[in-house]
Amino acid sequence: MFPNIQMVKEILKTSEFDEKILNSQEAPIVILELKNLKQQFLSKFVAPDLNRIGAILSYSAHHLLILKYFAKPIIFTSANLSGEPLIDNFEELKSKLNELDFILDFDRDIFNSVDDSLVLPLNSSEKLILRLGRGFAPKVLKYPNNSKNRDKKIIFKEEKHFFGMFKTITGSPYHNIDYTNKNIYNGKICMGCHQHKENSHQFKICDVSNSGANNETKNCITCHMPKVQGTATTIKITKQHTFHGFSGARFNYKMLAKYIKIDLKKVDDGFDLLITNEAPHNFLLHPLRVAMLKISVDGKNLQPRAFVRILGKNNKPAMPWVATGLFKNNMIKANETRTIHYKYSLKEHSNIKVKFGYFLVNPKMIKKLGLQINKSIQEFKIIKNKYFTL
Ligand code: HEC
Ligand code: HEC
Repeated sequence: MFPNIQMVKEILKTSEFDEKILNSQEAPIVILELKNLKQQFLSKFVAPDLNRIGAILSYSAHHLLILKYFAKPIIFTSANLSGEPLIDNFEELKSKLNELDFILDFDRDIFNSVDDSLVLPLNSSEKLILRLGRGFAPKVLKYPNNSKNRDKKIIFKEEKHFFGMFKTITGSPYHNIDYTNKNIYNGKICMGCHQHKENSHQFKICDVSNSGANNETKNCITCHMPKVQGTATTIKITKQHTFHGFSGARFNYKMLAKYIKIDLKKVDDGFDLLITNEAPHNFLLHPLRVAMLKISVDGKNLQPRAFVRILGKNNKPAMPWVATGLFKNNMIKANETRTIHYKYSLKEHSNIKVKFGYFLVNPKMIKKLGLQINKSIQEFKIIKNKYFTL
């Protein structure tokens, strides 16, 4: 065990890749070639007549302390009698290895004794794990999908190995999920909170209907935690896994763009823009948000259109907590296709640029509520850009 990488490089041949393995968080023992077979640095009893030794960097606090004061590499080996498992407690150590001069013990108990991993670098990018241990175990094995052996227990014949159960429904090694629970696939789990939508005047502030939660193929979870490309999260290696964040109005909103469709239709006195909201709730649920359609034809900006749901009381706009009704509502509703008409005659080859987006907080409300101004609540968040050429 070496105190630092410089000392490793003094006596062993190391490539950049070898150094990377040594320094990795798995901190394995790495088998490396001696620079000089006749070196005096190591005792002749260390791997006599071999041109390679196993090197490891100190990886725990007490190794670091010992090596700091010793300032030389030390022989690092497990406390066990040959062929026996690791010793993991002081009593056993004292009785089995009673010829030792000193024992340094500490009050951190070992709950899971595991060997250090042993790695042989093969070239500048590949390595062979000779002993699967700390840092690399447990190893996940790929298993052919169509195998007749599914649902069978696998047992390794070699000693010091593991066995695993392969079930038809595989679990994730990262979290314990009951995959048989249907609520993981639908959105009912979301409704406990997102259904609470009334203020103290029994007025519905926002509305998320159950239909969007019950639908098996298109629900809160499929839209807001969509499948994304990525590494396997289940034992069955898959190319896609469920996005672990939430895509919403504030974060990752571009992921939701595919549920908004924008189309253009030429009509007699101009053109129509058709916006389809495929979500099972208003396009913008939150009562203080405002959606906006910005459009330009051949570089000329046309009048933008806003979509709001302004709450009210006594025929005046009111804040959500005092509102008893609606003051104005032209929000695009669940599964609605809104037609927006523009009296503007398009020429042949006209270029139409459409930006559909929203403000997290209605700019008028930012002022009224004296909200701390930050960039995120002020900016126009574009969920969809669309270009049409005639
Ligand atoms: C325990 C209550 C609770 C549950 C359960 C819950 N939510 Fe929420 N959710 C909230 C609250 C509270 C907010 C507002 C947080 C904020 O604005 O900071 C929110 C915000 C959101 C947002 C908006 C994020 C944004 O970017 O503005 C989305 C989207 C969302 N939830 C979707 C879901 C989905 C999908 C589920 C089910 C998988 C779910 N929520 C389950 C309480 C919950
Ligand atoms: C077809 C896809 C789709 C489904 C299904 C869906 N949503 Fe959404 N959701 C969207 C889109 C698109 C937005 C972004 C636009 C917006 O903020 O309204 C959104 C936004 C939201 C927001 C943030 C609204 C805001 O103004 O901050 C919440 C909360 C939310 N959804 C909850 C839910 C819940 C709960 C369900 C299940 C009942 C659900 N959604 C089902 C597409 C979907």
